[in-house]
Amino acid sequence: MRKITIAIDGYSSTGKSTVAKQLADWLGYVYVDSGAMYRAVTLYALQNEFIYNNELYVENLVAALPEISLEFKKSETGKAEMYLNGVNVAKAIRTMEVSEWVSPIATIPEVRRKLVKLQHAMGEHKGVVMDGRDIGTVVFPNAELKIFMNASARERAGRRFKELQERGDKVTFEEVLENVTERDRIDTTREDSPLRKAKDAIEIDNSEMNLDDQFHTILQLAKDRIAGRV
Ligand code: CDP
Repeated sequence: MRKITIAIDGYSSTGKSTVAKQLADWLGYVYVDSGAMYRAVTLYALQNEFIYNNELYVENLVAALPEISLEFKKSETGKAEMYLNGVNVAKAIRTMEVSEWVSPIATIPEVRRKLVKLQHAMGEHKGVVMDGRDIGTVVFPNAELKIFMNASARERAGRRFKELQERGDKVTFEEVLENVTERDRIDTTREDSPLRKAKDAIEIDNSEMNLDDQFHTILQLAKDRIAGRV
């Protein structure tokens, strides 16, 4: 069967990765969480004091980029997880500290260039579902299916707050809401590859949709494209 490329973009915490994983599992495609890659670079910057005393040392981080190796590898759980220089960082990249710095890091053109190159290689043979902010616009402008996900900021913050609480993180709803809105602001206004809906993307607002409806709606769109009906 013909393989296609599926690009899923959208605002913070819109549930892109949930539906992207469901689609990839169902279709037998590779799932790539491009946000995890920006988060891993952010973790590296924190660990190596390129972020220090609330300041980001861009030049030093850029000089160290060749030292950063990123890989999605199957962990003991059988799931593909993010490895930074050989270490599983799946959990470490989900902290509030990383969430607070990831959008500033993602404005750095040299960081984007490095990650986009890796993303191109991962999607080279199609049969890939990739989620992020610039997948339909910059990484795979020729993707056969582009989805742009949205939901109200309060709804999104509520979902992320619940996730963090379940993990045992001590955060307040207000902190999460502020982080979500601030990341949206930085992501949409940056100069290099800002978050915006590609002209040919299909917008889905899932504020009022359950996971099952959302999955089946998008799966149908994918099936139509695989079969060449669209
Ligand atoms: O928290 P959420 O799952 O919504 O975000 P993420 O997908 O983990 O992405 C974290 C951050 O990485 C975003 O807020 C963007 O600043 C950046 N990012 C990006 O610039 N381009 C991408 N393709 C993916 C993520």
